[in-house]
Amino acid sequence: MPAMEDIMVDPPASGQRIDPVSYFGAPGDVELEIGCGKGGFLLRRARECPQVRLLGIEWANKYYRYAADRMARWGVDNVRIMRTDARNFVLHHLVPECLTALHVYHPDPWPKKRHHKRRLFQPDFAAVATAALKRGGRWAIQTDHADYFEWICDVMARQDDLESIPFDDPSYGVVDNRVQTNFEIKYLREGRAVYRLAYRKR
Ligand SMILES: C[S@@+](CC[C@H](N)C(=O)[O-])C[C@H]1O[C@@H](n2cnc3c(N)ncnc32)[C@H](O)[C@@H]1O
Repeated sequence: MPAMEDIMVDPPASGQRIDPVSYFGAPGDVELEIGCGKGGFLLRRARECPQVRLLGIEWANKYYRYAADRMARWGVDNVRIMRTDARNFVLHHLVPECLTALHVYHPDPWPKKRHHKRRLFQPDFAAVATAALKRGGRWAIQTDHADYFEWICDVMARQDDLESIPFDDPSYGVVDNRVQTNFEIKYLREGRAVYRLAYRKR
């Protein structure tokens, strides 16, 4: 049974490039979830697919600790959680072609125009994250924010190495178009629209 400390991993040192498989005991497929919040998706995915290694990145200390504690209580040993800025991690630390899937569900929308530069989805981020996917790797995105959805579509359309695929895919933890994150559950209960995208790296 893993302890919380076994699940929490330190961010890489400045200038260090890493293959996240090194955070796990054995080689195999690695999926990354950015902004994993309380870890609802990670936990379900980890329990359904014990053969997959899952790294969650979460900036807020409260949620980072909550999610790590939750994984420890469930005894899942195929999850690691890192507290860091995911944009910086992807841009400066990930090696190319190391991920079989990237999950980004309900990224902060930063609705005010003057804050748009803080949005996760920017052309440089999308290019480097695409490079971090293995060939055939999948990138799934979901947001409840119509304006951010359009923005994301524009950014992603510039990634020539990606092709659109259906979002619904039980082999990646999406059943009936649901990923069952905290935000998804809350927003669907409130009757809000949810926008979804998925891509495969050619
Ligand atoms: C709106 S919440 C969604 C949480 C979860 N994905 C869900 O759907 O329930 C966005 C999460 O992303 C985290 N976050 C925002 N920007 C981040 C960044 N640059 N790096 C890591 N985490 C970030 C926030 O702390 C927050 O927990």
